[in-house]
Amino acid sequence: MLKIAPSILAADFSRLGEQVAECERAGASLIHFDAMDGHFVPNITIGPVVLEAVRRSCTLRIDAHLMVSEADRYVEDFARAGADSIIVHIEATPHLHRVLEHIKSLGKRAGVAVNPATPPHGLDEVVNEVDQILVMTVNPGFGGQSFIRGTLQKIASISERRGNRPIEIAVDGGIDRRTVRDVVQHGADLLVAGTFIFRHPQGIQQAILELRDAAQ
Ligand code: DX5
Ligand code: ZN
Repeated sequence: MLKIAPSILAADFSRLGEQVAECERAGASLIHFDAMDGHFVPNITIGPVVLEAVRRSCTLRIDAHLMVSEADRYVEDFARAGADSIIVHIEATPHLHRVLEHIKSLGKRAGVAVNPATPPHGLDEVVNEVDQILVMTVNPGFGGQSFIRGTLQKIASISERRGNRPIEIAVDGGIDRRTVRDVVQHGADLLVAGTFIFRHPQGIQQAILELRDAAQ
């Protein structure tokens, strides 16, 4: 079944706990947590202290998407804070294999994210180490950007390269009712959406229903 992951970057941080609990009641599959360092990407967001608070507010799986340089330095902090999956960027992680092994040694799911301009073939070398491949469908750094259509072919190519391994193919950025069908048809099985879910005029539950509906 298609998984839906609200990205809390677009949530109302003055009532983050409530919003996360509402996602759980509304049928979200997991929570997507965006950490940015102002170095790998031109924005600074949230870190392990906030993740701990999210952990206390729901029982959903939490995926920590680390848009940070030297991600290995922070993996243990995010694991301790309660992340279930830790996703690092292929562009920011020279010793990718080692970092993925580190994440798994902590008992967490390991993911790799790829930026729009990064070709998919480097992933072949770690395809047996990862639980999730996160295809960035915008340039990371900000919510509310427009979906980049050129990433669709890469989703299809990664889906083919996965073979029958149980790897999730996630897409992140600009996912809404207009883009969801294409990404699913090209092989995505986990949709990350921030703006569409948290800024939907009829609320979180309606947004999730619309995404599932539009995906068919
Ligand atoms: C972007 C983040 C995304 C972002 C998605 O750098 O990784 O997870 O929150 O936001 P929307 O859905 O608004 O494009
Ligand atoms: Zn993200």
